[in-house]
Amino acid sequence: MNQSGAEFIQRHIGPNPVDSAKMLKAVGVDSLAALIDKIVPATIRLTKPMEIPAGLTEFEMLQSLKVIGEKNIVAKNFIGQGYYGTITPSVILRNIFENPGWYTQYTPYQAEIAQGRLESLLNFQTMVTDLTGMDIANASLLDESTAAAEAMAMIFNHINKSDVINQPKLFVDEAIFVQTKSVLQTRATPIGVELVTGDFKTAALDNTFFGAILQYPNANGAIQDYSSFIDQVHQLGGMVILVADLLALTVLKSPGELNADVAVGNTQRFGVPMGFGGPHAAYFATKDAFKRGMPGRLIGASIDAQGNRALRMALQTREQHIKREKATSNICTAQALLANMAVMYTVYHGPVGLKSIASRVHAFAQGLAQQLESLGIQQVNEYYFDTLHLTGFDVAKLNEIASEQAINFNYFANGTVSISIDETTSAKDIQLIVQLFETLTGKKAQALNAGIKNASIPAQLVRTSAYLTHPVFNTHHSETQMMRYIKQLENKDLSLNTSMISLGSCTMKLNAATEMIPVSWPCFGGLHPFAPASQTIGYQEIVKELSAYLCQTTGFTACSLQPNSGAQGEYAGLLTIRSYHAARNEAHRNIVLIPISAHGTNPASAVMAGFKVVVVACDAAGNIDVADLTEKAIQHKDHLGGLMITYPSTHGVFEETIMDICNTIHEYGGMVYMDGANMNAQVGLTSPGKIGADVCHLNLHKTFAIPHGGGGPGVGPICVNDKLAPFLPGHIKNGDATNAVSGAPLGSASILLISYAYIKMLGAKGLELATSYAILNANYMKSRLEKAYTILYTSKNGTCAHEFIIDLRPFKQTAGIEAEDVAKRLIDYGFHAPTMSFPVAGTIMIEPTESEDMAELDRFCDALLAIHTEIVAIESGRFDKVDNPLKNAPHTQHVICANEWAHAYTRQEAAFPLPYVALNKFWPTVARVNNTHGDRNLVCTCEPVASYA
Ligand SMILES: Cc1ncc(COP(=O)(O)O)c(C=O)c1O
Repeated sequence: MNQSGAEFIQRHIGPNPVDSAKMLKAVGVDSLAALIDKIVPATIRLTKPMEIPAGLTEFEMLQSLKVIGEKNIVAKNFIGQGYYGTITPSVILRNIFENPGWYTQYTPYQAEIAQGRLESLLNFQTMVTDLTGMDIANASLLDESTAAAEAMAMIFNHINKSDVINQPKLFVDEAIFVQTKSVLQTRATPIGVELVTGDFKTAALDNTFFGAILQYPNANGAIQDYSSFIDQVHQLGGMVILVADLLALTVLKSPGELNADVAVGNTQRFGVPMGFGGPHAAYFATKDAFKRGMPGRLIGASIDAQGNRALRMALQTREQHIKREKATSNICTAQALLANMAVMYTVYHGPVGLKSIASRVHAFAQGLAQQLESLGIQQVNEYYFDTLHLTGFDVAKLNEIASEQAINFNYFANGTVSISIDETTSAKDIQLIVQLFETLTGKKAQALNAGIKNASIPAQLVRTSAYLTHPVFNTHHSETQMMRYIKQLENKDLSLNTSMISLGSCTMKLNAATEMIPVSWPCFGGLHPFAPASQTIGYQEIVKELSAYLCQTTGFTACSLQPNSGAQGEYAGLLTIRSYHAARNEAHRNIVLIPISAHGTNPASAVMAGFKVVVVACDAAGNIDVADLTEKAIQHKDHLGGLMITYPSTHGVFEETIMDICNTIHEYGGMVYMDGANMNAQVGLTSPGKIGADVCHLNLHKTFAIPHGGGGPGVGPICVNDKLAPFLPGHIKNGDATNAVSGAPLGSASILLISYAYIKMLGAKGLELATSYAILNANYMKSRLEKAYTILYTSKNGTCAHEFIIDLRPFKQTAGIEAEDVAKRLIDYGFHAPTMSFPVAGTIMIEPTESEDMAELDRFCDALLAIHTEIVAIESGRFDKVDNPLKNAPHTQHVICANEWAHAYTRQEAAFPLPYVALNKFWPTVARVNNTHGDRNLVCTCEPVASYA
């Protein structure tokens, strides 16, 4: 290892050499190498190091990324097509986008320590419901195109309830964005939806259609009045999805007022950089009748144990991925951080500010149209908001002279051009465009002295209804207020900058500042996903290098960075298997075996990709029941499509039979899909390719240091072997749209920088060490905790992989204590709970990661051991069975400081149970949240201010 490589390794890995020695002793080995030899089966160990260069220092990394960034050209973009220039208010950039207090949060499952982001996401839902005029909205989806596909699936399933599908067709208006069409096509085929594309004005629909999808304003920029078409679809028993631009909705009649059934779209232009395609938060809004069938997460209001208002994720048990093979969607990680940014933009600007941005954009478009018309350029859109559709001139010449000045327009395949105006467009930019057309036509444009002549929004579609009337959108307009509002919410949430978040299967490791910094540089944030390749050389370099590194870590040969989450990667990977079989005339191979212990997204993704799920049992030791697997592989051999398997298992063990399992599947004609959620225990030691899998996804937001952002963004690239490489997701911009799973060619391109920097700074050696320390940290904690708790599954020699499960079920009998009580009590000790009840109900799964040092691991162990002592006190009768610190946890400041204290334990025991707690006390702002109350009284938008009191 060179000197520079060592520098970042010691920043990233928690334990220092002295502590490492103590920890190794505690687990009974004398070296890290001996520990790994004991834990990772010899048969699957890599025999040579990964081909990844030695690590860079943080300084070198930033210098290198500066050079690469300079190879990108930040052009003036008027491409539009779903991605627009926008101004991220500095107060949001600094206090959210670049603030670990926001970006290192976990998904708000522990509501009591997540009230800040829950409030922000509730604001997001309110913003979307208001602007779309729909009844209910979720807390973000992955991107506009996938949101459209989710809407399609939702109404398809709603209308075709039985197995007999009477209404298989969806009418797709030809003027929706091409990327959305191709994502719809990918999703439609496996579930049996037939897409019928045409012009809505001449569409001949009948009762075999379950619905229609249209865009508002459409891909050409035209505003169409869809009212009578919507009525027609309704009369035929179908439903209508409108893909709508939120900024345009500040001046256009809302989808709700047009009687649409679902509205979806992107919120990128509300202050989120284009980032070469993402990440951005899509929105999904619908009628009340669909609320229980909606995809994604829904935030709702409820009450806490004191009867105070408290927020939490509503209908949590309904979360689509928990429904496994009955799920109609696989959304788990979404785009929480970007949703927070978009809604904060709205909070900051308010309805008046938003409308003034929209009006300026619209006025510039009108002015430009008028000047171009004076040059004899034909503007096709009779009505438009921000986008002009031009024809009747030498397009090649325009492209040539515009390119010389780094000005990007949208060049349609049919030889027409569109120009989209956005928030960043200035009067000077308009002038520049006019000059280009003057050069092109050799004429002089008329000045705009007489003002705008024609109305370019149809009178019947002008918005008159109010929106964003809630005080939250009408209060925080000065920077001081805004900064304090963001801080106030941040303070309510426990993030990685407070203490470790030991979430099994979620790998909440360090998201180093050096990895994060380049994401907000304009040379990466300012690129449009459809910019000409000559402007994106820097990105291309990163993509090429990162793909090669990911292939090295997985042992595969090809990679797609397109999927926007782990679950989306599963879906993309399964589609490659599906296409592979189809290409070999074996399309009938439609069975996927999935162990009972799998994450819920696995079966959900399999169903979305058109497979039938057959569940495989686990044995008493938590391993896959190989006999059951073999029996099922033989039973389904003629239809076996593949196996989905997580490794090390979701039970936290390196199963020794894994290679035999893969061989069995191959023997009976199937392919092996490896869920890479647990790659943090593999990188550098073994690999999916080595083990015998054919494809895997990686959660870059787990293993490769992208932060969780309070529930997204994520990136779930897939790596495949040669057999599956021809079937990786394509994209329309590459000519071939087969299997496209995201709107943008590279999905959430800008955050690839984080994983790139992570790999570059650790190098092959550092990556391997990170894995080894993740395993050491888990085994060290296990060695301390097993003195008090039962560890559910271990390997034969008693070790675990990078995570382990503590069985809390026995305490229900002995003390009336459940996993939830332990989780909430940990909050009083200043910690976020580990993963609860996955993969086994009534347990917690701890994954410390390599980034936590021994002192933090010890604090967490001390907390859990002290909680065990409290449980023993309940068992022995020293604490009451009902009135005890666990049942009443978490304790708020309000409760502790109240004049009355009627409990049988002390305030000190409640709030400061161990000495370290006082040094960094984290106060939850609400007491235990009542989930059922909230689900029974579903409130998913901001309530009147009085209810906050
Ligand atoms: C084992 C496993 N597989 C798949 C996923 C889905 O990943 P994502 O949330 O990125 O969609 C998770 C998420 O936690 C997981 O733990």
